[in-house]
Amino acid sequence: MVVVNAVQMAHNFIISRLQAANLVVDATAGNGKDTLFLVKNTPATTTILAFDVQPQAIAKTELLLQQHQFLHKTRLILDSHANIANYIDQPVDVAMFNLGYLPGGDHTLSTCPDITIEAISQTLQLLAVGGLLTVAAYPGYEHGKRECQAVHQYLTGLRQQTFTVGSWAMVNQTNSPPVLYVIEKRRSE
Ligand SMILES: C[S@@+](CC[C@H](N)C(=O)[O-])C[C@H]1O[C@@H](n2cnc3c(N)ncnc32)[C@H](O)[C@@H]1O
Repeated sequence: MVVVNAVQMAHNFIISRLQAANLVVDATAGNGKDTLFLVKNTPATTTILAFDVQPQAIAKTELLLQQHQFLHKTRLILDSHANIANYIDQPVDVAMFNLGYLPGGDHTLSTCPDITIEAISQTLQLLAVGGLLTVAAYPGYEHGKRECQAVHQYLTGLRQQTFTVGSWAMVNQTNSPPVLYVIEKRRSE
């Protein structure tokens, strides 16, 4: 199967960059599936920081990593990704933002446009030259649509001398399919 969903596409875009990564961020740990992908596809010495505001999400991610014996590579942080800069003092090689709400959880505890933009902005400043940041956005429901529009507006305004920004989405699906944004830092700001 060549055609995949937005999150799988994010994984495809970052997998080769992960092989030389020292520091990786999962900005929305959720059920831990992305965090597990990141720990599995990085060298043994890589550190993965995974953020979530929900204790339930951090607990699920911790359990999943324990089951796969990867917890030692990961720092789980129960805090908003808006505070990301408080936790990081070295370049970030890869960062993933998988927006929306916890699958199977409370839909009102979704990511929020203003906070998401603040977190993306901070992470782009921390990103290494040659580093990648992905954002999977979900415009298929009202709140998600507003968030996707905010992300689109913010990312399309980034200076092209500093960042390369692309996007990917299915074009023949009903109900506003997810949109993936991929940003590469070309040079220091
Ligand atoms: C779509 S889920 C993430 C899916 C996850 N990456 C996975 O593989 O299962 C979005 C997550 O973002 C979290 N979230 C919402 N606001 C947040 C914030 N300000 N900082 C960090 N995480 C947040 C939610 O609690 C939810 O778990």
